[in-house]
Amino acid sequence: MNTILVTGCAGFIGSNFVPYFLDKYPEVRLINLDLLTYAGDMANLSDAPQSDRHIFVQGDICDRSLVESLFTQYDIRGVIHFAAESHVDNSIKNPGVFVQTNVNGSFILIDVAYKAWMEKPFTYRHSGLDPESTPRFHHISTDEVYGTLGETGLFTEETSYAPNSPYSASKAGSDMIVRSYHHTYGMNTVITNCSNNYGPKQHNEKLIPTVIRKALAGENIPVYGDGKNIRDWLYVLDHCKGIDLVYHNGRSGEVYNIGGRNERNNNQIVERICSLLDEMHPRHPELDSGSTPSYKDLITYVEDRAGHDRRYAIDATKLETELGWKAQETFDTGILKTIEWYLKKYSNNNDD
Ligand SMILES: NC(=O)c1ccc[n+]([C@@H]2O[C@H](COP(=O)([O-])OP(=O)(O)OC[C@H]3O[C@@H](n4cnc5c(N)ncnc54)[C@H](O)[C@@H]3O)[C@@H](O)[C@H]2O)c1
Repeated sequence: MNTILVTGCAGFIGSNFVPYFLDKYPEVRLINLDLLTYAGDMANLSDAPQSDRHIFVQGDICDRSLVESLFTQYDIRGVIHFAAESHVDNSIKNPGVFVQTNVNGSFILIDVAYKAWMEKPFTYRHSGLDPESTPRFHHISTDEVYGTLGETGLFTEETSYAPNSPYSASKAGSDMIVRSYHHTYGMNTVITNCSNNYGPKQHNEKLIPTVIRKALAGENIPVYGDGKNIRDWLYVLDHCKGIDLVYHNGRSGEVYNIGGRNERNNNQIVERICSLLDEMHPRHPELDSGSTPSYKDLITYVEDRAGHDRRYAIDATKLETELGWKAQETFDTGILKTIEWYLKKYSNNNDD
């Protein structure tokens, strides 16, 4: 068994990654370390095998002795690090926990991995060993570290970091720590910086689940500012496939951007979801006129997020040309799957 430590996999992306990865690699065992903060939910892992190939450990990546004990107990041959505080709005209200988990926790994790692996027969730069032949530390990061774009241009791996929110600043800090462990110690690291994900199991607080949930409840659908902030949306499984490729085939010390070339502003996202819901789950006809209202009537503009970045867009050429990755979902196919999943989830909840 090839044992890999994954962190934060009771959250959105990690819980999509675990079943995908275990299904694809029958010889892999995952140790899943997750604190189960408000963002983690064991129900997200109900489609993951409950077997000795998936061992769940509830705990904090900031707990050095716990992380060390996992390296002592299991012969961990790689780390894929998802765990983070991930919501920008929360980072504006409470930045401290973002620095603690994202910066300090990532430091503890990579430092323990480095020391554990150093004591094994394979050591790093000073041993003259090729880092590619040593265990790999894969850090999952975000395009938000690059800051904001004007109306044109794309983020490449060479774009300078200019994080604007406490969330993106803390992710940038963790990226720099990982980078330093490669450059200083020759550790086998890769970093992926991905654009906004959407899909099943995303936490209620994020844009797309909020729109679907509020619409179905007949409540106002809040849109920040003028709704013209642009994100480059990627279906979560396409992200997981990109991580898989980079973890296995990416070059040590490299950074890879992941993005689906699916730029949409928030108005477009919200209106598309409302149109699809109008078809898939129409609102009740109005009693007096008998006409069916659109979910779009619920859209309400609210005060903008402080420091709201205007536009993100990813150039994924490096991942596409070097590793042959290509997003398989367009926004139209991905959002349809997503809405279908949430409709099922909310109808099941109503059955409870
Ligand atoms: N969601 C996106 O659009 C997106 C895009 C690019 C990159 N990312 C990155 O991908 C990763 C996963 O994002 P997500 O959207 O799945 O996040 P999420 O908030 O849904 O899940 C985070 C998970 O980490 C766990 N966690 C938090 N603090 C922890 C700690 N101290 N110790 C152990 N576990 C802890 C939580 O319990 C939760 O299960 C993050 O690193 C995030 O920065 C997310």
